[in-house]
Amino acid sequence: MSGINRARSAAAVLATAGAAAALLAAPSAVAAPQPIVGGTTTTTAAYPYVMQVTDASQNQFCGGTLVSPTKVVTAAHCMAGESARSVRVVGGRTYLNGSNGTVARVSRIWVHPDYTDATNGDDVAVLTLASSMPYKPVKYVSSSDTSVYAAGNEARVLGWGTTRENGSSSNQLRTATVPVVSDADCGGSYGSDYVASDMVCAGLPSGGVDTCQGDSGGPLVIGGVLAGITSWGEGCARAGYPGVYSRLTTFSDQVTAQVTS
Ligand code: ARG
Repeated sequence: MSGINRARSAAAVLATAGAAAALLAAPSAVAAPQPIVGGTTTTTAAYPYVMQVTDASQNQFCGGTLVSPTKVVTAAHCMAGESARSVRVVGGRTYLNGSNGTVARVSRIWVHPDYTDATNGDDVAVLTLASSMPYKPVKYVSSSDTSVYAAGNEARVLGWGTTRENGSSSNQLRTATVPVVSDADCGGSYGSDYVASDMVCAGLPSGGVDTCQGDSGGPLVIGGVLAGITSWGEGCARAGYPGVYSRLTTFSDQVTAQVTS
Protein backbone atom coordinates (compact mmCIF):
# COMPACT_ATOMS: atom_id res chain seq x y z
CA MET A 1 0.00 0.00 0.00
CA SER A 2 1.99 2.86 1.25
CA GLY A 3 5.23 0.94 1.00
CA ILE A 4 7.66 3.49 -0.18
CA ASN A 5 10.25 0.82 -0.11
CA ARG A 6 11.29 2.68 -3.11
CA ALA A 7 13.55 1.92 -5.96
CA ARG A 8 17.03 1.77 -4.57
CA SER A 9 19.38 4.47 -5.66
CA ALA A 10 22.78 3.58 -7.02
CA ALA A 11 24.27 5.06 -3.87
CA ALA A 12 22.10 2.83 -1.72
CA VAL A 13 23.11 -0.26 -3.66
CA LEU A 14 26.76 0.65 -3.25
CA ALA A 15 26.25 1.30 0.45
CA THR A 16 24.54 -2.08 0.81
CA ALA A 17 27.39 -3.80 -0.99
CA GLY A 18 29.74 -2.11 1.44
CA ALA A 19 27.61 -3.18 4.38
CA ALA A 20 27.59 -6.77 3.13
CA ALA A 21 31.37 -6.72 2.92
CA ALA A 22 31.52 -5.34 6.44
CA LEU A 23 29.24 -8.12 7.66
CA LEU A 24 31.48 -10.74 6.09
CA ALA A 25 34.44 -9.18 7.82
CA ALA A 26 32.74 -8.74 11.18
CA PRO A 27 29.66 -10.90 11.67
CA SER A 28 29.41 -9.86 15.30
CA ALA A 29 28.44 -6.38 14.09
CA VAL A 30 24.98 -7.62 13.05
CA ALA A 31 22.42 -5.55 14.91
CA ALA A 32 20.06 -7.35 17.25
CA PRO A 33 16.39 -7.22 16.20
CA GLN A 34 14.95 -3.89 17.26
CA PRO A 35 11.76 -4.04 19.26
CA ILE A 36 7.92 2.13 14.94
CA VAL A 37 11.66 0.43 15.22
CA GLY A 38 13.52 0.93 18.48
CA GLY A 39 10.69 2.65 20.33
CA THR A 40 8.37 1.86 23.20
CA THR A 41 4.70 1.04 23.45
CA THR A 42 2.26 3.81 24.33
CA THR A 43 -1.47 4.54 24.18
CA THR A 44 -3.90 6.84 22.42
CA ALA A 45 -4.80 8.11 25.90
CA ALA A 46 -1.27 9.51 26.11
CA TYR A 47 -1.37 10.77 22.50
CA PRO A 48 -5.08 11.37 21.74
CA TYR A 49 -4.34 13.16 18.44
CA VAL A 50 -2.85 10.03 16.84
CA MET A 51 -5.35 8.47 14.45
CA GLN A 52 -5.48 5.17 12.61
CA VAL A 53 -6.24 5.63 8.93
CA THR A 54 -8.05 2.46 7.88
CA ASP A 55 -10.03 0.87 5.11
CA ALA A 56 -13.79 0.40 5.36
CA SER A 57 -13.21 -2.76 7.43
CA GLN A 58 -11.12 -0.76 9.91
CA ASN A 59 -7.86 -2.36 8.87
CA GLN A 60 -5.15 0.22 9.57
CA PHE A 61 -2.80 1.07 6.70
CA CYS A 62 -1.48 4.53 7.65
CA GLY A 63 -1.40 7.01 10.49
CA GLY A 64 -2.89 10.46 10.74
CA THR A 65 -2.99 13.42 13.09
CA LEU A 66 -6.09 15.16 14.42
CA VAL A 67 -5.60 18.92 14.00
CA SER A 68 -9.23 19.94 14.57
CA PRO A 69 -12.31 17.92 15.57
CA THR A 70 -13.05 17.10 11.92
CA LYS A 71 -9.65 17.42 10.19
CA VAL A 72 -6.86 14.87 9.97
CA VAL A 73 -3.44 15.47 8.41
CA THR A 74 -1.89 12.45 6.69
CA ALA A 75 0.45 11.67 3.80
CA ALA A 76 -0.65 12.09 0.19
CA HIS A 77 0.90 8.72 -0.68
CA CYS A 78 -1.48 7.07 1.82
CA MET A 79 -4.40 8.25 -0.27
CA ALA A 80 -3.22 6.72 -3.57
CA GLY A 81 -6.12 4.73 -4.98
CA GLU A 82 -8.40 5.72 -2.10
CA SER A 83 -11.69 7.56 -2.17
CA ALA A 84 -13.64 9.23 0.62
CA ARG A 85 -15.93 6.21 0.64
CA SER A 86 -13.07 3.73 1.05
CA VAL A 87 -11.37 5.33 4.05
CA ARG A 88 -12.12 5.57 7.78
CA VAL A 89 -10.35 7.37 10.59
CA VAL A 90 -10.24 5.66 13.97
CA GLY A 91 -9.37 7.61 17.12
CA GLY A 92 -8.88 6.43 20.68
CA ARG A 93 -7.93 2.90 19.73
CA THR A 94 -4.50 1.90 21.06
CA TYR A 95 -4.60 -1.64 19.65
CA LEU A 96 -5.06 -2.57 16.00
CA ASN A 97 -7.24 -5.49 17.06
CA GLY A 98 -9.39 -3.33 19.33
CA SER A 99 -12.94 -2.24 18.61
CA ASN A 100 -13.10 0.72 20.99
CA GLY A 101 -12.62 4.38 20.24
CA THR A 102 -14.39 6.44 17.61
CA VAL A 103 -14.74 5.60 13.92
CA ALA A 104 -15.38 8.46 11.51
CA ARG A 105 -16.26 8.36 7.86
CA VAL A 106 -14.49 10.76 5.54
CA SER A 107 -16.47 13.32 3.57
CA ARG A 108 -13.58 14.83 1.61
CA ILE A 109 -9.95 14.05 0.79
CA TRP A 110 -7.62 16.87 -0.16
CA VAL A 111 -4.31 15.73 -1.64
CA HIS A 112 -1.63 18.31 -2.39
CA PRO A 113 -2.29 19.19 -6.05
CA ASP A 114 1.39 18.79 -6.99
CA TYR A 115 1.86 15.41 -5.32
CA THR A 116 3.25 12.68 -7.59
CA ASP A 117 5.53 10.49 -5.46
CA ALA A 118 6.81 10.79 -1.90
CA THR A 119 10.38 11.28 -3.14
CA ASN A 120 9.25 14.31 -5.15
CA GLY A 121 7.78 16.06 -2.09
CA ASP A 122 4.28 17.49 -1.57
CA ASP A 123 3.43 14.37 0.46
CA VAL A 124 0.55 15.88 2.42
CA ALA A 125 -3.19 15.27 2.52
CA VAL A 126 -6.04 16.51 4.70
CA LEU A 127 -9.09 14.39 5.44
CA THR A 128 -12.38 16.01 6.40
CA LEU A 129 -14.36 13.79 8.75
CA ALA A 130 -18.11 13.36 8.45
CA SER A 131 -18.38 13.41 12.25
CA SER A 132 -16.30 14.96 15.02
CA MET A 133 -13.61 13.17 16.98
CA PRO A 134 -13.98 13.61 20.77
CA TYR A 135 -10.20 13.85 21.23
CA LYS A 136 -7.90 16.79 21.78
CA PRO A 137 -6.28 17.91 18.51
CA VAL A 138 -2.63 18.93 18.39
CA LYS A 139 -1.38 22.27 17.13
CA TYR A 140 0.63 22.27 13.93
CA VAL A 141 3.48 24.54 12.89
CA SER A 142 2.88 27.82 11.13
CA SER A 143 4.87 28.65 8.02
CA SER A 144 7.31 30.82 10.01
CA ASP A 145 8.17 28.13 12.58
CA THR A 146 11.11 26.78 10.58
CA SER A 147 13.46 26.88 13.60
CA VAL A 148 11.85 23.63 14.82
CA TYR A 149 13.95 21.84 12.20
CA ALA A 150 17.31 22.81 13.71
CA ALA A 151 19.57 19.76 13.51
CA GLY A 152 19.61 17.83 16.76
CA ASN A 153 16.14 18.86 17.93
CA GLU A 154 14.29 15.91 19.42
CA ALA A 155 11.29 14.79 17.39
CA ARG A 156 8.65 12.31 18.51
CA VAL A 157 7.22 9.81 16.04
CA LEU A 158 4.19 7.56 16.60
CA GLY A 159 2.51 4.70 14.79
CA TRP A 160 1.46 1.09 14.40
CA GLY A 161 3.96 0.33 11.67
CA THR A 162 6.42 -2.52 11.44
CA THR A 163 8.90 -2.83 14.28
CA ARG A 164 11.71 -3.76 11.94
CA GLU A 165 12.36 -3.55 8.22
CA ASN A 166 10.29 -6.28 6.51
CA GLY A 167 8.80 -7.11 9.91
CA SER A 168 5.18 -7.10 10.99
CA SER A 169 3.03 -4.30 12.33
CA SER A 170 2.72 -3.56 16.01
CA ASN A 171 -0.67 -4.34 17.53
CA GLN A 172 -0.06 -1.57 20.07
CA LEU A 173 0.71 2.05 19.26
CA ARG A 174 4.44 2.76 19.56
CA THR A 175 6.49 5.91 19.91
CA ALA A 176 10.15 6.89 19.70
CA THR A 177 12.22 10.04 19.66
CA VAL A 178 14.74 10.78 16.95
CA PRO A 179 16.96 13.83 16.37
CA VAL A 180 16.36 16.10 13.39
CA VAL A 181 19.08 15.66 10.73
CA SER A 182 20.50 18.63 8.83
CA ASP A 183 19.60 19.20 5.17
CA ALA A 184 23.25 18.72 4.25
CA ASP A 185 23.45 15.34 5.95
CA CYS A 186 20.12 14.16 4.58
CA GLY A 187 21.02 15.31 1.09
CA GLY A 188 24.25 13.37 1.53
CA SER A 189 22.23 10.24 2.25
CA TYR A 190 19.54 10.56 -0.39
CA GLY A 191 20.91 12.83 -3.11
CA SER A 192 18.28 14.41 -5.34
CA ASP A 193 15.47 12.38 -3.76
CA TYR A 194 15.81 14.66 -0.73
CA VAL A 195 13.87 17.83 -1.55
CA ALA A 196 14.88 20.13 1.31
CA SER A 197 12.03 22.57 0.72
CA ASP A 198 9.42 19.86 1.24
CA MET A 199 11.12 17.32 3.53
CA VAL A 200 12.97 17.00 6.80
CA CYS A 201 14.92 13.99 8.03
CA ALA A 202 15.17 12.55 11.51
CA GLY A 203 17.19 9.65 12.85
CA LEU A 204 20.40 8.64 14.55
CA PRO A 205 23.59 8.38 12.48
CA SER A 206 23.86 4.73 13.54
CA GLY A 207 20.18 3.99 12.78
CA GLY A 208 18.27 1.67 15.07
CA VAL A 209 15.33 4.00 15.73
CA ASP A 210 12.93 4.96 12.94
CA THR A 211 9.44 4.88 11.55
CA CYS A 212 8.75 2.01 9.17
CA GLN A 213 6.08 0.60 6.85
CA GLY A 214 2.61 1.41 8.15
CA ASP A 215 3.73 4.48 10.08
CA SER A 216 3.30 6.69 7.04
CA GLY A 217 0.94 9.61 7.40
CA GLY A 218 1.51 9.70 11.15
CA PRO A 219 2.93 12.55 13.20
CA LEU A 220 6.43 13.90 13.73
CA VAL A 221 6.05 16.18 16.76
CA ILE A 222 8.68 18.70 17.84
CA GLY A 223 8.19 20.66 21.05
CA GLY A 224 4.62 19.41 21.32
CA VAL A 225 3.65 20.73 17.89
CA LEU A 226 3.02 18.74 14.72
CA ALA A 227 5.98 19.52 12.45
CA GLY A 228 6.14 16.61 10.01
CA ILE A 229 4.34 13.69 8.39
CA THR A 230 5.94 10.24 8.09
CA SER A 231 6.76 9.88 4.40
CA TRP A 232 9.59 7.58 3.25
CA GLY A 233 13.05 6.18 3.81
CA GLU A 234 15.55 3.68 2.48
CA GLY A 235 14.53 0.58 4.40
CA CYS A 236 14.00 1.32 8.08
CA ALA A 237 16.42 2.29 10.84
CA ARG A 238 19.48 1.72 8.63
CA ALA A 239 22.68 3.48 9.56
CA GLY A 240 23.14 6.51 7.33
CA TYR A 241 19.50 6.49 6.11
CA PRO A 242 17.29 8.58 8.38
CA GLY A 243 13.50 8.67 8.06
CA VAL A 244 12.12 11.33 5.74
CA TYR A 245 9.13 13.42 6.81
CA SER A 246 7.07 16.06 5.02
CA ARG A 247 8.27 19.50 6.16
CA LEU A 248 4.99 20.84 7.43
CA THR A 249 5.99 24.52 7.59
CA THR A 250 6.07 24.47 3.79
CA PHE A 251 2.47 23.29 3.70
CA SER A 252 1.03 25.06 6.78
CA ASP A 253 -0.94 27.62 4.83
CA GLN A 254 -2.40 25.03 2.48
CA VAL A 255 -3.31 22.83 5.45
CA THR A 256 -4.93 25.80 7.16
CA ALA A 257 -6.96 26.52 4.06
CA GLN A 258 -8.32 22.98 4.32
CA VAL A 259 -8.79 23.07 8.08
CA THR A 260 -10.83 26.27 7.85
CA SER A 261 -12.87 25.27 4.79
N1 ARG B 1 6.39 4.79 3.42
C1 ARG B 1 6.22 4.16 4.69
C2 ARG B 1 4.75 3.93 4.96
O1 ARG B 1 4.01 3.99 4.04
C3 ARG B 1 6.90 4.90 5.78
C4 ARG B 1 8.33 4.69 5.64
C5 ARG B 1 9.11 5.43 6.62
N2 ARG B 1 10.43 4.89 6.46
C6 ARG B 1 11.43 5.20 7.23
N3 ARG B 1 12.53 4.58 7.08
N4 ARG B 1 11.30 6.14 8.14
O2 ARG B 1 4.35 3.54 6.02
